[in-house]
Amino acid sequence: MKVLGINAIYHDPAAALVVDGKVVAAAEEERFSRRKHGKRPLPWSAWELPELSAAWCLEHAGIRPEELDAVAYSFDPALMGTPEDSGLFDDGDTMRKRYAEMAPDFLAHALPGLDPAKVRFVKHHVAHAASAGKAAPQRDNAVLVLDGRGEAHSHLAGRYVDGQLEILAGQSLPHSLGLMYEELTDHLGFLRSSDEFKVMAMASYGKPRFLGELSELIRATGDGGFRTERIDFSEFAPRLGKDERWTEDHADLAASVQTRLEEVLVDLARWVHEQTGEKTLTMAGGTALNCVANTRILAESPFEQVWVQPAAGDAGTALGAALHVAAELGERTEPMPGAALGRGWSDDEIERRLQTAAVDYERPDDVAEAVAEVLADNGIVAWFQGRSEYGPRALGHRSLLAHPGFEANLERMNDVKGREQFRPVAPMVLLEKAPEIFGRGPIPSPYMLFVHDVAPEWKDRIPTVTHVDGTARIQTIDPETEPLVHRMISAFERRTGLPVVVNTSLNTAGRPMVDDPRDALECFGSAPVDLLAIGPFVVRRTRRTPRP
Ligand SMILES: [Fe+2]
Repeated sequence: MKVLGINAIYHDPAAALVVDGKVVAAAEEERFSRRKHGKRPLPWSAWELPELSAAWCLEHAGIRPEELDAVAYSFDPALMGTPEDSGLFDDGDTMRKRYAEMAPDFLAHALPGLDPAKVRFVKHHVAHAASAGKAAPQRDNAVLVLDGRGEAHSHLAGRYVDGQLEILAGQSLPHSLGLMYEELTDHLGFLRSSDEFKVMAMASYGKPRFLGELSELIRATGDGGFRTERIDFSEFAPRLGKDERWTEDHADLAASVQTRLEEVLVDLARWVHEQTGEKTLTMAGGTALNCVANTRILAESPFEQVWVQPAAGDAGTALGAALHVAAELGERTEPMPGAALGRGWSDDEIERRLQTAAVDYERPDDVAEAVAEVLADNGIVAWFQGRSEYGPRALGHRSLLAHPGFEANLERMNDVKGREQFRPVAPMVLLEKAPEIFGRGPIPSPYMLFVHDVAPEWKDRIPTVTHVDGTARIQTIDPETEPLVHRMISAFERRTGLPVVVNTSLNTAGRPMVDDPRDALECFGSAPVDLLAIGPFVVRRTRRTPRP
């Protein structure tokens, strides 16, 4: 059975392919179109489809559109009411609904040969739920979808038993933790439904001194749902324009909303545990990318394990919708094998691209050793290996790497990427060494979705990746699943004594992550990076970049 999943309605358009119950491909449109987040979530862009990523998924598996058994579209227009029904009074919803209704015809046009009757609508939050509950390794689990909005809801609580979803609660709009956080993002001068992680980073600089005022305005209701009343954020700190300097008040506001969000999420997690008694909580929805909140949920709820879909934002609904429909068609679906579900390239393909670009390149005996040598000399490395990641984080396939032992490297990395100085960079650490360096958060942590405390004796040894509040958002590297990355960090450890490297996504500010070899060469050509490690090859910058 061949099911293509599609997310298109708001932002992060993406496609995913499930064949005989197995996830074989998933990719975000932005990696192909080179347009960050694929599109802005505006009503008149709701018709736009992830055409390039969908075509690639099919090509990757050698499937023609007419061979598909179903296309799963992660939004059901029949469940969407009028702008008044939702209480959001967003006139654009009329257009969104209409475009979603027409999606089968749009899809048949984009994928010639597809029968539009094969397109099935999947409730948005069921698609999110499946992206967590059906993609996680634990087959039975409780699930929370923590989103901005779907057709008429912003949240879902439920459980999966033997692959079947039982919905236990859903919060209807206009109450929405995701939309409330987006409002704050906009208030702080950042881009709504894109830059929420910057608010989370800013929160770590502030104190939650407005918590008392916010407690009534944002609260769990004890029945699995919650309330978010309208908040005039300017009562706490004035609205900021783009690139305007933020003050202590702004950081305190961010810290207060962040803390209140965490408290409400812990309440929701406790509720769904009470109802289900499950050991594992799975989560998806954009708010589940909030790694500070995820860590608190794990620490303060009774769940033993928390598994978060790495593509927790809307991109992940392409995968969830496909898994859900595959199960409806009678398949026993399997957990996702990892996040490396995007495009990959053979050594020959990469070499041909290097020859086309007419750059000098070498094939060292071991690319891991060549990279470790440059990193140990405090150089910066662009690392392009294997299939690209599904979801917003670089997980050792399209990464920018550096030495974690120099405080000045944080500013240097943010300069290379051309982004704000308060943004942290994260460590990749050898799995077996992680427990001695990082505490509190879960280990293993393969998808960078939790924060950990850096052990006091390690803070001075890895200052680049130790955030201002003493935490780090780690990725643990398992030698079984990431042998090459593990070998590279081990080679770095032999030279420096540090089983940790700095990892940030391979892109520059405002651009999507690098996906194909040409993107990698373009990024390497324009940013002060010492080495590009691409497949088994390396390209060296002839002039040494300045070392801090
Ligand atoms: Fe969503």
